[in-house]
Amino acid sequence: MNHFLDIHKTDAKDLHRIIETAKLTKNARHDKPKAALDAELPLKDKMVALIFEKPSTRTRVSFDVGVRQMGGQTMVLSGADMQLGHGETIADTARVLSRYVDMIMIRTFEEQTLLEMAEYASVPVINGLTNRTHPCQIMADILTYEEHRGPIKGKKVVWLGDGNNVCASFIHAAGQFEFDMTFAGPEPLDPEMGFVEEARAKGSSVEIVRDAEEAVVGADLIVTDTWVSMHDPASARERRHNQLRPYRVDRRLMAMANPDALFMHCLPAHRGDEVTNSVMDGPQSVIFDEAENRLHAQKAIMRWCVE
Ligand code: CP
Ligand code: NVA
Repeated sequence: MNHFLDIHKTDAKDLHRIIETAKLTKNARHDKPKAALDAELPLKDKMVALIFEKPSTRTRVSFDVGVRQMGGQTMVLSGADMQLGHGETIADTARVLSRYVDMIMIRTFEEQTLLEMAEYASVPVINGLTNRTHPCQIMADILTYEEHRGPIKGKKVVWLGDGNNVCASFIHAAGQFEFDMTFAGPEPLDPEMGFVEEARAKGSSVEIVRDAEEAVVGADLIVTDTWVSMHDPASARERRHNQLRPYRVDRRLMAMANPDALFMHCLPAHRGDEVTNSVMDGPQSVIFDEAENRLHAQKAIMRWCVE
């Protein structure tokens, strides 16, 4: 049994294997009806708890559909409605849930909640986003890049904007999948330096720059995300918007990247803030393939978890 907690904590060989499995199982479904079972059912007779302490559209639906396609059943739980939100310890919750279910996916605030869940659960635990990282998203993004352009190894990924949880998992992936990364954003919103140094130690060149135009030169992939994440206080909105406006992805910036550069956004997007409609809906955008690939990448992750 394996937990899937973060990209930098998962063996690179396993990460590559998960991506290859996702490609195969996605292709094997072709145009099967969405509720049709897969040919192989690695979650047959298994029950999966999907816990959300924050809102979600993609994570919630893609995990739910994915479990069912692999023969399992799900229960979607809101953190606020559980005793977890009323003082029961994470450790006790983890031990209790392990008596009922075969796998736990949790979207939470503090990373500590995820780590304690994994420590005390006797079933696999999957990170469905914390304030600090969002590994399932980036596995879907790698799958999406490789489907469109081949191996991501050696490519240049440029992140524009907030050095947030999604950015952190991209930096982890740079180290594990051996691509280069440039972060362009305002200094107060830099990604965690520990993550940057770890990726550099694995041989990835991770650059931090302040100028968006300088950053995108030679880019194979341009990525951005919301300027205000779910864990950011609403009071920070105006300050963040002022800090991040120079990093909005528009057609002019896209035109400075490599001609075959792709654009990604994990969604939900705030059209007109971090990215313009012309980029979101433009020919380089693969945002809906990314969203679809959450399903296929997570199915491969869950399969690996129960191996
Ligand atoms: N990208 C992503 O995780 O979307 P949701 O918040 O809708 O799950
Ligand atoms: N950075 C965003 C990602 C949402 C999927 C957030 O944490 O709100």
